Amino acid sequence: MKIRIENSKKKTSLLCGFVLENSTKVLGLGKIDAKTASIIDQSIKDMEGKLGKLNIIPLSEKNSIQRILLAGLGKKEDLTRDTIRAVSGKIAQKARELKLKEFSIIAPPSFVTDTISSVSQIVEGSKMALYKFDNFKSEKSEESPDLTIIVSKSNKIVKAIKNAEIIANSAIFTKGLANLPPNECTPNTLANFAKIISKNNKLKCKVISEPELKKRGFGGISAVGQGSKNRPKLIVLEYNNGPRNEKPIVLVGKAVTFDTGGISLKPGDKMDEMKFDKCGGCTVIGIMKAVSELKLPTNVIGIVPSVENMPGGESYRPGDIIKLYSGKTAEILNTDAEGRLILADALSYGEKFYSPKAIIDFATLTGACIVALGTNVAGMVSNNEKLTKKIYDASSRTTEEVWELPLNQDYIDMIKSEVADMKNVGIGRSAGTITAAAFLRNSIENTPWVHLDIAGVAWTQTSTKEKSYNPKGATGFGVRLILDYLQNL
Ligand code: BES
Ligand code: MG
Ligand code: ZN
Repeated sequence: MKIRIENSKKKTSLLCGFVLENSTKVLGLGKIDAKTASIIDQSIKDMEGKLGKLNIIPLSEKNSIQRILLAGLGKKEDLTRDTIRAVSGKIAQKARELKLKEFSIIAPPSFVTDTISSVSQIVEGSKMALYKFDNFKSEKSEESPDLTIIVSKSNKIVKAIKNAEIIANSAIFTKGLANLPPNECTPNTLANFAKIISKNNKLKCKVISEPELKKRGFGGISAVGQGSKNRPKLIVLEYNNGPRNEKPIVLVGKAVTFDTGGISLKPGDKMDEMKFDKCGGCTVIGIMKAVSELKLPTNVIGIVPSVENMPGGESYRPGDIIKLYSGKTAEILNTDAEGRLILADALSYGEKFYSPKAIIDFATLTGACIVALGTNVAGMVSNNEKLTKKIYDASSRTTEEVWELPLNQDYIDMIKSEVADMKNVGIGRSAGTITAAAFLRNSIENTPWVHLDIAGVAWTQTSTKEKSYNPKGATGFGVRLILDYLQNL
């Protein structure tokens, strides 16, 4: 999908304009012949600018504009960045359904919403909505149509579009990785993808494998990984483009390429979805790709512990006591609580090795998070108010929603073990998301830290709110959120 800008539209197979509820105008349409204008008036009366409604008006063959599409934006007072993103996505999907080679969207004028922002959302929404996971289909889906945005051209607009394309492409890259089936995506595969993006984008990539993992004390990653013939990897991406002495931001992502639960085997129902247990890691890889393409003037480190959690003769067991990278010991009471073990190693490694100014981690960590917050909001746990405030700000701009859960000493006490420094489960089903976070909290000293439990939001589940730009499968949650945070540092 190529994206172009034009000041006004002379020729297109589909000209799309937005219509607000209770309005009689197509935003930014400008002059049009009397006959077409009267058809448009009638069409607006029919669709009333209701949110998400699309009305197509075919024009005569001779017309250089073959069709007009009116897209309802809903009430002006309810208009958000997400409205434009989601409706643009719907428009793009309609253009593909019509098998068009190109289509055009008129950017809403600045008295309705900020032009830079709306143009960015048009790009994000339409690009992400046209992504399809068809790698393994013999019959490929149609080519994505090209998009022309009708807006008065300026350097700022050109730059905004370029940025939005990079961000959308990274979210799509993350979705593509995360959607890969577990037989085609092992820890080694992820490490190779990280190497590929680092070749093209001036990133440095280091991969720590066995026996080094064990030798250097990554006891969590080694233990969880020991049950699979697909051996564990610790993937590190370094991007240094800020002042030399500036402390970096460290991003950590859980990448369990398949989570069977291990010896504490999961029930069979929906176990296939545990291919998405690598989503946190895929998010980190996608963010690092974008950070380098955007050439952000900061230092950012991505750390992705990757394992396959399998049952077998070599697997770690309930009852085992292991030593984490922090030096603390953990009693294993459930091998299905594996994410916190590999993250604990990665978090303390990130803190010790890079002395970061902040650490943010992403993990499909607990089913309890879906019980608490559902499938449209990620759980957030932190030790630093300033950092959570920044994440909330980024969340409101990107509509990747988060909600903070508390973490005080009482929760940390819930993971005390009789025989080791801590145990890898809490007490029964009580506060499962927070006790998992408490385990992570024990693995860092005092660095400002935010943990995002993306179990409910990383892929579309039955209760996920439908959005055009998140078609079925992985959503790439976190990519747009954290890129926004990094761009506003
Ligand atoms: N990857 C799962 C969490 C998960 C489950 C995410 C379902 C999304 C949907 C994680 O490794 C896990 O199994 N967690 C256990 C922890 C428990 C054993 C303390 C859980 O949530 O049941
Ligand atoms: Mg598990
Ligand atoms: Zn898991």
